[in-house]
Amino acid sequence: MEPGYFTESDSAEVVIARNAAAKSERLQQVMAVLTRHIHAAVKEIEPTTEEWMTALQFLTATGQMCSDWRQEYILFSDIMGVSLLVDAINNRKPSGASESTVLGPFHLADAPELPMGANICLDAKGEAMLVRGRILDTSGNPIPQAKIDVWQANDEGFYDVQQKGIQPDFNLRGVFRTGADGRYWFKGVKPKFYPIPDDGPVGKLLGALGRHPFRPAHLHYILEAQGFDTLVTHIFDPDDPYIHSDAVFGVKESLLAEFRHVTDTVVRDGKTFLQYQND
Ligand code: BEZ
Ligand code: FE
Repeated sequence: MEPGYFTESDSAEVVIARNAAAKSERLQQVMAVLTRHIHAAVKEIEPTTEEWMTALQFLTATGQMCSDWRQEYILFSDIMGVSLLVDAINNRKPSGASESTVLGPFHLADAPELPMGANICLDAKGEAMLVRGRILDTSGNPIPQAKIDVWQANDEGFYDVQQKGIQPDFNLRGVFRTGADGRYWFKGVKPKFYPIPDDGPVGKLLGALGRHPFRPAHLHYILEAQGFDTLVTHIFDPDDPYIHSDAVFGVKESLLAEFRHVTDTVVRDGKTFLQYQND
């Protein structure tokens, strides 16, 4: 039987039936789900024609803002929490595994590989910071030769790629490899909160929603090791003023690091230890 004509009550099912010859089953399924949800939303909202035009103009402006350097649709997905939801669905981890979070737009694939302990801060600006940790499997065994790709914004909240000619190329980026004990350490600068790019339609939407555009201070990591899933994650400063209101919902409790003031190193039993301010 031919499907019926379009009516308000049957709207979604009439459109879905029209896609019966879709060339891919997955596309057909995705479009059916989207059609049902979008029609249900329109029925619940009952937009005026002007309101619907405003929505379409927002999508048009979002597309017009996109370039090789700017992906406004990803920002839209980020501030809607959809990027983090897709990330969660695709990165369900066994217990004990480090959690993932958003990649963000500022990763460079060709950052230099550096010797352990190197300083990734190339312009001597900001408060010096020592970063150290261990890369372990879920049973607690060290992972040697793990590749640690790190990048961070400077203490004014900008990545090198946002300040070409102001910051040196590859400032605050580096690739390190763990030794046999899974340990790594390097020097950077204490990061600061910064706004996601907010001079486009997504920034305007955040303003209209009474939301700020800030991400709490963090360091980005991509961890790769043979035989293991790749992990895209951050560590965050738990004392950051925006730690509970990340514009892109990237914060997870397990990703909060400890930032402590180091005054000096001390040697005990022939080993070097860090001396913390409150020790
Ligand atoms: C970032 O952390 O670099 C980032 C993530 C999402 C949107 C914008 C920036
Ligand atoms: Fe970032």
